[in-house]
Amino acid sequence: MSDRRIVLSERDLPRAWYNLQADLPQPLPPVLHPCTMQPVTPDDLAPLFATELLKQEMSQDRWIEIPDEVRDVLAMWRPTPLVRARNLERALHTPARIYFKDESHSPPGSHKTNTAVAQAYYNKIQGMRRLTTETGAGQWGSAMSFACKQFGIACKVYMVKVSYHQKPYRRSMMELWGGEVVPSPSTETKSGRAILAADPHTPGSLGIAISEAVEAAVQSDDSHYTLGSVLNHVMLHQTVIGLEVERQMREAGDYPDVMIGCCGGGSNFAGLVFPFMPDKLRGKELRFVAVEPCSCPTMSRGQFRYDFGDTSQLTPLIKMFTLGHNFVPPGIHAGGLRYHGMAPLVSFALKLGLIEATAFHQVECFQAAQMFAETEGTIPAPESSHAIRAAIVEAERCREENTEKCIVFNLSGHGLCDLSAYDRYLSGDLEDFEYPQEKIQASLAELPLIPDPGSQ
Ligand SMILES: Cc1ncc(COP(=O)(O)O)c(C=O)c1O
Repeated sequence: MSDRRIVLSERDLPRAWYNLQADLPQPLPPVLHPCTMQPVTPDDLAPLFATELLKQEMSQDRWIEIPDEVRDVLAMWRPTPLVRARNLERALHTPARIYFKDESHSPPGSHKTNTAVAQAYYNKIQGMRRLTTETGAGQWGSAMSFACKQFGIACKVYMVKVSYHQKPYRRSMMELWGGEVVPSPSTETKSGRAILAADPHTPGSLGIAISEAVEAAVQSDDSHYTLGSVLNHVMLHQTVIGLEVERQMREAGDYPDVMIGCCGGGSNFAGLVFPFMPDKLRGKELRFVAVEPCSCPTMSRGQFRYDFGDTSQLTPLIKMFTLGHNFVPPGIHAGGLRYHGMAPLVSFALKLGLIEATAFHQVECFQAAQMFAETEGTIPAPESSHAIRAAIVEAERCREENTEKCIVFNLSGHGLCDLSAYDRYLSGDLEDFEYPQEKIQASLAELPLIPDPGSQ
């Protein structure tokens, strides 16, 4: 029998997170205060985030210890398996070796829980009694509800309206773990009311839901806001994924040629590839492929500019690849990939040529998901299906060129709450959507003008 699953023991759970900021060839562009245009300080962000998380956000330390209380909760499902996808390889007739890291094992079903637990913990020890957040696909909201329950704090979730209706079972999961969920835009916040007044039928977006969650957090002293992606500390917490993969690859006696992750705000991709970045910076040949949907092509068609993280311009200005904070992507089924921006660390790595970006349409991703479900069993989240599509394209290239590459992708979550999307795919109702260039240009034209040479 061949080794299919490379499984680590609980003792192998990483003891420290890896911080890419320590190894970047140039420092990250600073995050700017929208009024002063000066770099933000921890004090500016203190009403929103726990002190320890802000320290991590700006830290240049290479390794940051994972508290035992966090490791203890992570150990409920970590380390996750690395699986050699032998059935998929066979179906593709490829000489490539394909592995996937299975992050669908957490109770809520995705990688999001890795950072949710850390964020709930640091807020709890700082005395917070309630956390607010937004959720697109529902994965982050359920991860945060689960994590808050572990540490005994309340969780309020603003869920993008289109997903709220597409995914009623995600709402049930959040409520089971004690989360309170409202569709966004809601009438509960000033931002939500303004957006509903302008467009009562808006499907909502992550940018809008962030505005509402931020507004709700600053209204009381014992509430903070949490974000499921984009920020440096979220990328940091996700590195448990890649750190485990490093060890699992060693146990398999193999090493990746190409590593692939889907990208919404960038966190599961970063978590997989950042721990391998020091090897690449030392000259090792290794490709990192970030995959996004054609309907929300932040890295492929956006610009590297300062922009707001949310629609109502409440957040600081972040230098990132963006389609513009007013960009409202169509209601595709990979709800977690519908974000106008991209993590500053992922954006900067792309700008420096350390990673590459590619985009796929949703129908070809669902086809890849079906092939994966048929061969490897797990029904993937529609977001993860983008990574699967990219892995299949790489493996097919290996077949055509008769090369034996090692391909590693992240299965960021399962799709068991996405069956209505699969129903639409199976009945042939799903459509692809290419965002018209004029609309992207119009949204980019509304970006704030910041004196910043070389920003295009
Ligand atoms: C399963 C899954 N994968 C990927 C993503 C995209 O987020 P990120 O790019 O931060 O990993 C999401 C977001 O909700 C998700 O639920």
